[in-house]
Amino acid sequence: LQTLPPVQLAEKYFTIFPEERDPLWQNPCHDKRHKDIWSKEKTCDRLPKFLVIGPQKTGTTALYSFLTLHPAITSNFPSQFTFEEIQFFSGSNYQHGIDWYMDFFPFPSNASTDFLFEKSANYLDSDVTPRRAAALLPRAKILVVLINPVDRAYSWYQHQRAHQDPAALNYTFHQVVSVGLDSSPELLTLQHRCLVPGAYAMHLDRWLRHYPPSQLLVVDGAVLRSNPVQVMEGVQRFLGVTPIFNYTQVLVFDENKGFWCHRVEGGRPKCLGKSKGRKYPEMAVEVPPCQIVLFELPVAAPTAGLDVVEVAGVQWTLVNMQSMT
Ligand code: A3P
Repeated sequence: LQTLPPVQLAEKYFTIFPEERDPLWQNPCHDKRHKDIWSKEKTCDRLPKFLVIGPQKTGTTALYSFLTLHPAITSNFPSQFTFEEIQFFSGSNYQHGIDWYMDFFPFPSNASTDFLFEKSANYLDSDVTPRRAAALLPRAKILVVLINPVDRAYSWYQHQRAHQDPAALNYTFHQVVSVGLDSSPELLTLQHRCLVPGAYAMHLDRWLRHYPPSQLLVVDGAVLRSNPVQVMEGVQRFLGVTPIFNYTQVLVFDENKGFWCHRVEGGRPKCLGKSKGRKYPEMAVEVPPCQIVLFELPVAAPTAGLDVVEVAGVQWTLVNMQSMT
């Protein structure tokens, strides 16, 4: 039997087991052996019971803000690094480990009735997130907000125009979604961010490989926008929060903004910021056969009569956009 100093031992270990170089954090309290060596000062209660996973531009901020009005639901503290969202599972923050993640959450006053949650709108279309989330939070519930992917793509295009993205300023939406692979990297990046998060089936399929369908709720973003009281009741039932909070008390429709907002003192509305619920022109209807990449095409599927392109290494059918709206 041999041993080595710690660093050399680690190097040897990872030479033998290279697949373990990438950590996969698990909940220390789910395994007695881990729990026994987990510091007595630490708790496993500072982890979310549910995640709002996106995608961007579907109403995730509205859902987030409505959830925070609930007396038994608490979100993470905002992150100063990543525009308030923690974005733990999807990128390099994951390397910071679970203590880093848990520091974003308060100690719940009652671990069994309080619901901590996190919203990171880029989780839905992140390749690595479902596996990582399921390893640490196998019992978490997952909320995803979906709208017509064409509207989502258009909203993202308008978002980028508002942020002075030259590709969005210099090209129409129709051009952005229909240019070919020989276009500039900036234009292709914009096209990618317009279209790829909208490939809902592909992303949900990845999540469903790690979570049972009973733990996943698809929220209709159009109903969230028009009737949030109804949606919030369904969300609470799905989460199992009790008692059911009546959102008619705390929400009010703002005629100027055209959206539902928080009802604050005196019944006045306090709405989300200017970047949520922007005013922009309707999607052009005069654009002749306007096409958008929407559906992933199984490789073996017959392609006769369909336009097919390749985006992100996957073949997609092109569907007439007007027929979708
Ligand atoms: P637009 O600004 O294009 O209208 P997200 O927060 O996921 O990025 O989504 C932003 C979208 O949320 C907005 O897109 C808006 O349509 C929608 N939304 C739904 N309910 C809203 C609300 N109560 N207040 C503001 N925006 C809301």
